[in-house]
Amino acid sequence: MMRMKFLFRVFLVTVALAFAGQELPAQINVIPMPENYSPGSSAFELNDATIVAANPYAMAEAKFLADWLSQATGRSFSIVNMDSMPQSNVIVLSCTKRKIDLTPERLKVMPDSMARRVLQADKSAYRMNVSARGIFVNAEYDEGVFYAVQTLRQLLPAQAEEKKLTLPLSIKGALISDKARFEHRGLLLDCCRHFMSVDFIKNYIDALAYYKMNVLHWHLTEDQGWRIQIDRYPLLTEIGAWRIEKDGTRYGGFYTKEEIRDIVAYAQKRHVVIIPEIELPGHSSAAIAAYPELGCTHAKIEVENEWGVFKDIYCAGDDGTFDFLENVLAEVCELFPSPFIHIGGDEVPKYRWENCDRCQKRIKDEGLKNEAELQTYFIERIAKFLESKQKRIIGWDEILEGGIPADAMVQSWRGMEGGEHAAQESHAVVMSPTSHCYFDYGLAATDLREVYSFDPIPESLTPSQKQFIKGGECNMWTEHAPQELVDGKVFPRLLALAEVLWTYPDQRNYDAFYLRVEKHYPILKAMGITAGFPTVPMDLTVRPGEYSAMVVEINKNISNAVVSVKENDKGDFEPYVDPIAITEPTTLEWQVEMDGRSYPEVLKWSYDPHLGWNKNIKLAYIPSPYYTGGGEHAMNDGRLGTPNFRDGIWQAAQGVDMSAVIDLGNAQRVESLSSNWFHYGNAWIFLPLQVDYAISDDGENWQSVGIATSDVNEKTPGEFPVPFELKLPKPVSARFVRMIAKNHGVCPTWHDAPGEPSWLFCDEFVIH
Ligand code: ACM
Ligand code: ZN
Repeated sequence: MMRMKFLFRVFLVTVALAFAGQELPAQINVIPMPENYSPGSSAFELNDATIVAANPYAMAEAKFLADWLSQATGRSFSIVNMDSMPQSNVIVLSCTKRKIDLTPERLKVMPDSMARRVLQADKSAYRMNVSARGIFVNAEYDEGVFYAVQTLRQLLPAQAEEKKLTLPLSIKGALISDKARFEHRGLLLDCCRHFMSVDFIKNYIDALAYYKMNVLHWHLTEDQGWRIQIDRYPLLTEIGAWRIEKDGTRYGGFYTKEEIRDIVAYAQKRHVVIIPEIELPGHSSAAIAAYPELGCTHAKIEVENEWGVFKDIYCAGDDGTFDFLENVLAEVCELFPSPFIHIGGDEVPKYRWENCDRCQKRIKDEGLKNEAELQTYFIERIAKFLESKQKRIIGWDEILEGGIPADAMVQSWRGMEGGEHAAQESHAVVMSPTSHCYFDYGLAATDLREVYSFDPIPESLTPSQKQFIKGGECNMWTEHAPQELVDGKVFPRLLALAEVLWTYPDQRNYDAFYLRVEKHYPILKAMGITAGFPTVPMDLTVRPGEYSAMVVEINKNISNAVVSVKENDKGDFEPYVDPIAITEPTTLEWQVEMDGRSYPEVLKWSYDPHLGWNKNIKLAYIPSPYYTGGGEHAMNDGRLGTPNFRDGIWQAAQGVDMSAVIDLGNAQRVESLSSNWFHYGNAWIFLPLQVDYAISDDGENWQSVGIATSDVNEKTPGEFPVPFELKLPKPVSARFVRMIAKNHGVCPTWHDAPGEPSWLFCDEFVIH
């Protein structure tokens, strides 16, 4: 034992020196990187006669290993008890302690000293020694043995996962001791916006286990679909699991109790805890569609077929709502052994509660200040019920707003602040900020390197507060991702999060990690997972060229990317050779291939080198830091917005008008003025009430040249850009040109968030 520790310390010094010299450490192809690894002196030969041995506490993991080896090689491996194992050619799994089930119920009856010891014990820790005589694994808990087996799987070549491993095989000697940095290492799958098959979910549980993740946060109820069978309320799945899409088709599905039990058992074998999420009090349209009496108005509503946040939520004034939720949760608790139940709590518009007599009576009767406290009342009442079932709650960071039960865990998503605040108040925290953990976002927002740079522990916390950060999760929301697109978004980014949550920061280095990721592509493929790109494969720069041309040039972010381009939707894609000079409105569409894979996102941008392009511009508002559109020249950089308001081209302001003046430098002939605006009511984005265009010779005295409006009804569902164009009856001469776009100011009364500040989104102020 002493000797091993000594060796590891020597190894650490070597690694530190290597990093200092910018050399990458010698490493094994394991993700996440183990805490300590050093090469051993002799190799182990895996062959037809190799035997798996285990003590009784490690028998289940031995079975897992033998089954996997059998599948990898096509021959069967037998398991013997450690007492009767051979002297050599053996893989030995030894677990010193039985798994201890840490349910709150059990903790209560455990002596304090023992409970403390169990809580502190690192259940993930293991040691592994690969030598000529055998492979020896030792861990205190079966979880640790399981993780050793996963490391062993990764020490074998990719052919093992391809089930094409030929024996004998030499495995390099190694000494590994390892444990997780965080205890909660999760992935959220939103199976509501789009449904995922049972096989697909099982495959993800396999992948989670392979990368030593241990939580599947299963998002099961939403506005757009209720996906879990509840015996007492059959309409939840008969009605709530199905929505009518805008094209008239019926979309949906749900998991039967039998399927859920099967998935839970499958996950348990792989040390993955499934935490079900039953959203309340918001994101509940599907339940209310099935049982309208659950809402404040009792009006019949449809299962949503739009994305967004909706104002029909569970009525907090009616005890019947709580009876319903308690009956539902009782069935949920019976299905899921997880000590935690996720109760959502995010994005709760208070409009219905403000206008509901029963909710207002509840506020009065309970002596609550307002609707925020009514939400706390709601959450606490549910938490108390779950406590009676020996379950703790997890909720999104909004649940902090009116105070929460002491043992509630907070999942921070609107940045890290919610989690930071919760830890300061001694609540357990899971970090999943949009900045690093939202895998529904494109790679332009969050690429592999960005995920890898994540640190779940805010610097500002004291050492004792840091203990409350239990880990992190990546969130796969599926508004824009039916099942077939999920792989490309989750992978390879999940590998980065797995390493962030398992490996200690001083062992992490992105370049070294990326070398391993490249070797994991074939492994993922063998697992039936079509991993996506690690980053946006190319960027574009736009610069002024000769004869007032706009020059568009690409920059590859992945060295082996092959790029081709098509102009104005005409002809075929042609290989990109040189920068492209454009002098009139042009659309360029790009195609990128890497190792035979096509980049799945549409790379299509339009440019307009108009009169105002790149000239001096003054804005009379402060753009939102979240939607700058690329900075100072966003409104006259020649780039036109795409149908995605998050594309980085759109600039936005909330609650205020947007007004801009462009100085053309000298008097120019102006024929038309236009600007594109975005419409997306569900995201609080509205078209301007009107856009005023004006001209001036001195930038002080203005002459209006006309007003542009749109006839798009503000209630129109969907998201799309709308041009506000003004063709002048006859050309005018002007040096300064101005637009003033009038904001609604707040979302209208019919909206799901009436009174909240409304957004304006503009891509470009175009002058011809
Ligand atoms: C969330 O993304 N609304 C938790
Ligand atoms: Zn109500």
